[in-house]
Amino acid sequence: MTRKILVTSALPYANGSIHLGHLVEYIQTDIWVRFQKMRGNTCHYVCADDTHGTPIMLRAEKEGITPEQLIARVWLEHYDDFRAFHVAFDNYGSTNSTETREFAEGIYRTLKAENLIDVRSIEQYYDPLKQMFLPDRFIKGECPKCGAKDQYGDNCESCGAAYAPTELKNPYSAVSGAKPELRNSDHYFFRLSSASCQQFLREWTRSGTLQAEAANKMQEWLGAEGENKLTDWDISRDAPYFGFEIPDAPGKYFYVWLDAPVGYMGSFKQLCKTKGIDFDGYWKLGSDAELYHFIGKDILYFHALFWPAMLQHSGFRTPTRLFAHGFLTVNGEKMSKSRGTFITARSYIDHVKNTEYLRYYYAAKLNGSMEDLDLNLDDFVARVNSDLIGKYINIASRSAGFISKRFDGKLANHALLAQCADTSGLSGKLVEDAPKQNLLQVLQDASAQITELYEARDYSRATRQVGALLDLINAYVDATKPWELAKDPSNVEWLQGVCSVALQAFRIITIYLKPVLPHLAQEVEKFLNVGELHWQDAQTLLPEQHGINPYRHLMARLDPRDIEAMVEANKESLQPAPAAISEQRHAEHQQHVAAAPVASHGIPPLGDATLPLRKVSGEIAPVAPTIGIEDFSKIDLRVARIVNAEHVEGADKLLKLTLDIGEPQPRTVFAGIKSAYDPERLRGRMTVMVANLAPRKMKFGMSEGMVLAASGETPGLFVLSPDAGAQPGMRIK
Ligand code: MSP
Ligand code: ZN
Repeated sequence: MTRKILVTSALPYANGSIHLGHLVEYIQTDIWVRFQKMRGNTCHYVCADDTHGTPIMLRAEKEGITPEQLIARVWLEHYDDFRAFHVAFDNYGSTNSTETREFAEGIYRTLKAENLIDVRSIEQYYDPLKQMFLPDRFIKGECPKCGAKDQYGDNCESCGAAYAPTELKNPYSAVSGAKPELRNSDHYFFRLSSASCQQFLREWTRSGTLQAEAANKMQEWLGAEGENKLTDWDISRDAPYFGFEIPDAPGKYFYVWLDAPVGYMGSFKQLCKTKGIDFDGYWKLGSDAELYHFIGKDILYFHALFWPAMLQHSGFRTPTRLFAHGFLTVNGEKMSKSRGTFITARSYIDHVKNTEYLRYYYAAKLNGSMEDLDLNLDDFVARVNSDLIGKYINIASRSAGFISKRFDGKLANHALLAQCADTSGLSGKLVEDAPKQNLLQVLQDASAQITELYEARDYSRATRQVGALLDLINAYVDATKPWELAKDPSNVEWLQGVCSVALQAFRIITIYLKPVLPHLAQEVEKFLNVGELHWQDAQTLLPEQHGINPYRHLMARLDPRDIEAMVEANKESLQPAPAAISEQRHAEHQQHVAAAPVASHGIPPLGDATLPLRKVSGEIAPVAPTIGIEDFSKIDLRVARIVNAEHVEGADKLLKLTLDIGEPQPRTVFAGIKSAYDPERLRGRMTVMVANLAPRKMKFGMSEGMVLAASGETPGLFVLSPDAGAQPGMRIK
């Protein structure tokens, strides 16, 4: 029976880069989704950028752009990062979408009709200079307990005390520095303290939806029976705020955490529209689909209390289970910018390149619990090289050559295979370790247990099981010594048989590792000359006389120098601008920005994101004749902001771009990039233009310059963009 499964990962904030900590979650989820798909289950994986709230506004203001421009740019960065790590969302959306807005409004209206929304006036710090209410994290002052200076409004980093912002001594606004004043304002509350919410949450958290550790935490939050520990949840924020305005409440906005989980629905709705999936079948009460949220332990509170209570009281189903995980440490310590262990996804891609090393390492460490997970960089190098290359890849490299050279690439027939796979005649380690039986059968029989372990998200034990099988295969190759057999022509049949056993074994292991190493598995499929491998295929063998392709090296060793370079590059002093990431995760500021109409992202699904991001083709076009620097400097190249991009009526290749290079008037440029870019994805991006190219009259109007893009033999067109931080009008030389 195939299952209907909807899986989500938490929506990353749109105010910072993806880092290796985030990837613990996305890789973990992706492995599980790929496993379910390989098993033949219907499984959808959706995610989105979490775009609302004040940190995003403040950051946009700092950069001199609108929040919409900021989130469009970050969306692209996130999208590329995930793709490079083979995290294959079926849809990657944005909470700033029409779909999410509609669901958020609908849920709110139902809760209101159910009498679960309250309006009350609360007193809060207000920044008179910036003219905005200050969230706790944006009020600083002296700790009321120990007197430490410059502490945040919610807790002291020096003594660990927790307090209310009003308790701080000499408070000041972290936004403007002004002395905040207390002011009143009406806030909207979700009545979590209502009997029906308490009752429901008590039952829900005990119903097996949570890991044991999480369920215990919940009991703490809920208190003993009849204790009523839950308080109402403040779901509104005053203007100015970047988010969705609350229906019939002008100037009041949904707090970012109200619409964030609704983004799961919004993103899935987009997928439903493009794929013709029945949304209600997954979300309405009584749905027979399974719904799983993968989350970090830090956001359990939102997912185990607010979210199910919202769903329950607005006519939707609640999650089947929450899968919470722990936090990443690097070399045993919290990720640190000064040590260079706050590693961004991008810097990993730039320095280490092969993202499957990390997928493998995380898999080897993840066990489905809420424990923290350590990335020990030395161990990382050692594990990748000894397990992946030494034990796994080497099986193919040791046996494929003989098959190609001596047997025209043809594998042995099955009678011979059965004879050679019988390990009972062999001596040495294998005999002691392995049962005396058909090696391939042993590998196939392991499937049931490995299946269970993947299902339970215990990838560390799954990879350990696979590791034990690899030891067995290697012991087999060591004992049968194909390189010795090859010396004596009378052993020719035996040689083909033994190498065929090894390659059949390699194929079965590849199936078991495919959820973790999807790109490598694809390369193996090409090498073995087979179609897409599914989970069930482990129970069959390659046919007799099957022809394989010549072996080309499948994976290079991980060079420790690449790791050193990556760590160096992440040391804070070397970074151009501090990325506003983790430290600010729970921060919340506000900024003046008129809330613009919400657009639905016309987002291409990541689909099979296993394509290598940057494939270097063997041949390049010949390099043009040499020029001097004076020739080059005639070209005035400038950093340009794409203020607007739109389709041109009647043009099938062109997009009309409006470019800001710091001049009083923006330029209009017609660019032949329509085939490769959706205008929406270009808006807000920075690029490079030739600013002194003679204007050219075109059918659709005057083109005042040219944007630069790369193209080559392989398909695709790639608009250039400068590194983060470059400003419009900067000269490129
Ligand atoms: N935007 C919220 C989630 C909203 S879900 C409706 C958020 N964003 S986040 O960018 O801060 O984190 C996204 C996910 O990554 C969270 O599940 C978080 O726990 C996880 N991680 C962020 N840093 C992490 C580590 N250092 N280690 C492991 N996971 C971490 O929270
Ligand atoms: Zn203190």
